Amino acid sequence: MSSLDTVVAGSATDLQAAARRHLWMHFTRMGGYGEGDEIPIIVRGEGNHVYDQHGDRKLDALSALFCCNAGHGRPEYAEAAAAQMLELDFYTNWSYAHPRSIELAERVAGLAPGNLNRVFFTSSGSEAVEAAIKVARNWHRAHGRGQRHKIIARQIAYHGTTMGALAATGLTEIKTAFEPTMPGGRHAPNTNSYHWPADRDPLWAADRLADLIEFEDPDTIAAVILEPLQNAGGCIPPQEGYFQRVREICDANQILLISDEVICSWGRLGYYFGCERYGYQPDIITTAKALTGACVPMGAMIVGDHVFEPFATGTASFAHGSTFGGHPVAAAVALANLDVFEREDLCGRVLEHEGYFRDMLEGLRDIPIVGDVRGAGYFQAVELVKDRETREGFSDQESEWLLRGFLSGALYERGLICRADDRGDPVIQFAPPLTCGPAEFDELAAILRPVLSEAWRRISG
Ligand SMILES: Cc1ncc(COP(=O)(O)O)c(C=O)c1O
Repeated sequence: MSSLDTVVAGSATDLQAAARRHLWMHFTRMGGYGEGDEIPIIVRGEGNHVYDQHGDRKLDALSALFCCNAGHGRPEYAEAAAAQMLELDFYTNWSYAHPRSIELAERVAGLAPGNLNRVFFTSSGSEAVEAAIKVARNWHRAHGRGQRHKIIARQIAYHGTTMGALAATGLTEIKTAFEPTMPGGRHAPNTNSYHWPADRDPLWAADRLADLIEFEDPDTIAAVILEPLQNAGGCIPPQEGYFQRVREICDANQILLISDEVICSWGRLGYYFGCERYGYQPDIITTAKALTGACVPMGAMIVGDHVFEPFATGTASFAHGSTFGGHPVAAAVALANLDVFEREDLCGRVLEHEGYFRDMLEGLRDIPIVGDVRGAGYFQAVELVKDRETREGFSDQESEWLLRGFLSGALYERGLICRADDRGDPVIQFAPPLTCGPAEFDELAAILRPVLSEAWRRISG
């Protein structure tokens, strides 16, 4: 027995009991964990794998919710954090600056496309989106267009949970319990073409966005917020030319384009920023998660010089902030993280191996439950269907059994962490650390194939 086993096994029951009694897990049906049901407790991470409290090894094909893009347990991040705590444990960016946030802002601005040169740090993705919504409204107000307050996003898109970000989020089931959210959130169709009629114009979704803007009156709209590759709904890619058309629509209507890259930045799609993959220039990028390798929470809003311009002179200021934004320990870890990206060419690695990853998933199409395979880079999804010919999906009840009753548990038990999700149609999503390669994709396939085959046998039998 290893020392880890000794430590964890001794306290396993206590941890389960304490978690049941006191921990409130996010987006979790706590009632689903009665006596006898085990809460998955992850105790250690190493490279592309994590270990649960029983010492069982799992391939982390979700990068701990799109966060640990450079893998787990990097000593250089711990060293950077420790050195920073000893040098300057904390100072705020609220009226003050400190070396690490300055260095990180310069580094991020150097990596961000075009004129995105100004970086406003936050502590999470929702906060970054919140800041972007506020700066968009403020920017229009500074230009005498204070009536421009609406934010257009897409259906089924997730942009965070704070009340402003939630207004942009296009998932009815996570909004209604808290309504009214911030006024002004509107939603256009997304680009998921799998269930579209075959003869639909590829730029249909962009045209619907234009229609919605027209319907709402462009003079009331502050910004459009979109992910490069939409996460919720299952790694929904844009059609060729979609973002170019969106950019034109925004320009024609003086609307700011926010690229929400809380997931799609930091190599997930093979580039530092997802917009680079699809060749569009946003006015604002929001990011978080993998910026620090997630060892320490940090997010950021990166804005173009033209967006910053009204705040640059005289007595103007952006009346927004939070104590921890730009935390020196987080900034130090983010700098160490970006060193790793550069040294190990993690973006290049994704571009090199994404084909192998995708081919492996495409190879599952012989299992009748596999309807669609889609995504980009190291962010891919498999959509599950009842009938591949008609593309008919599962009923809510079937979906519930399939995802929560069977797949999540079966994949986890056999050593694979990924995401079985039905925000939209049922999908399994994969976002492995960028350090993964053919060996890990083979490991993933060896678990996924028999579990999907069994799911089909059970649900069709
Ligand atoms: C695209 C996008 N925006 C915003 C958020 C919110 O980020 P956080 O959970 O850090 O608040 C998320 C979280 O997953 C996200 O995927």
